[in-house]
Amino acid sequence: MPRSPLNAPADADARLSEAVDVLSAGGVVAIPTETVYGLGADAENPAAVRHIFAIKGRPANHPLIVHLAGADRVGDWSPQPSAAAMALAERFWPGPLTLVLPRAERVPDAVTGGQDTVALRAPDHPLTLALLERFGGGIAAPSANRFGRISPTTAQHVRDDLGAAVDLVLDGGPCRIGLESTIVALIGPRPQLLRPGAIGPEALSEVIGKPVDPPLKHAGASEAAVRTPGALAAHYAPRAPLELIPADALTGRLSKLLDHGERPACLGLGERPSLPAEIPFALLPADAAGYGAGLYAALRALDAARPDRILLVAPPAGADWLAVNDRLRRAAHGSGR
Ligand code: TXA
Ligand code: MG
Repeated sequence: MPRSPLNAPADADARLSEAVDVLSAGGVVAIPTETVYGLGADAENPAAVRHIFAIKGRPANHPLIVHLAGADRVGDWSPQPSAAAMALAERFWPGPLTLVLPRAERVPDAVTGGQDTVALRAPDHPLTLALLERFGGGIAAPSANRFGRISPTTAQHVRDDLGAAVDLVLDGGPCRIGLESTIVALIGPRPQLLRPGAIGPEALSEVIGKPVDPPLKHAGASEAAVRTPGALAAHYAPRAPLELIPADALTGRLSKLLDHGERPACLGLGERPSLPAEIPFALLPADAAGYGAGLYAALRALDAARPDRILLVAPPAGADWLAVNDRLRRAAHGSGR
């Protein structure tokens, strides 16, 4: 029987105890967060952390985020955190914001990929916050997908991707935000956005009182791309190539592809276009938050139909859509257009 989402407190209690036991024994637990599911291990156990990389198929020099119960734990992982770091943690945690800070001595190289910085975040999910409180330590966790593929936003996605390789999957229901956290580095003289997410750069600037530099352009082989795999251009890709097109070009493009004997799938925005019934289709809402929450599940569902390509109605370009457009750009990269 597949496990159902938590309903009874006694059930939650037993599952949390089991998760703490697995973590303490050096095992790997898939954890729900408000952004995407993570693949977690005890951040102070290098062997357990290396096991995460093995399961994901991720190169070992790619650093992981350490998940914490709250802002009061930052000092355990980063010595003398700056006022800006603490202001951001206190304002946005628990929430979809990751801070890259100078690392403390105790942070294993397995977590940081040997860098002198560490990424920290307190996730906003009741189950995982309760787990972090009980466990007491930090949980190092990347997204719980195979390297280079779409992040999981349900427990079933995790099982589909990683199956028996994970010791325990904590099912916390579908992820509320559905896109990975905003990452900001507070290392040099100027704060720098490394990955856009639900918390925009203006909101960060407002709290720290200085501008936040935009991410470096994700040029395939730049240093940033190596240090931050989320910055690799072709990250987050479904199997089928993606093609973004304006809404008014959709039907024309579709009939052309069908004429050429292709089997496209289609991801709509806001309203259902008129399409031949045999075309696999998914529809996402026309607001950025709703779109982001459904995007990865929709791409997985369409990809499962094994289309030759996925046509997406391109979302608008506004600031609200920064994270969505960032992920779509990466997912479409390498699709040959
Ligand atoms: O929403 C999220 O952030 C999810 C949930 C599970 O918390 N996690 C996530 O982890 O997306 P992951 O490993 O898929 O992406 C984390 C990103 C990677 O691109 C990694 O390179 C970057 O954070 N990162 C981690 N430590 C870093 C560091 N010290 N300096 C620069 N980038 C770092
Ligand atoms: Mg990831």
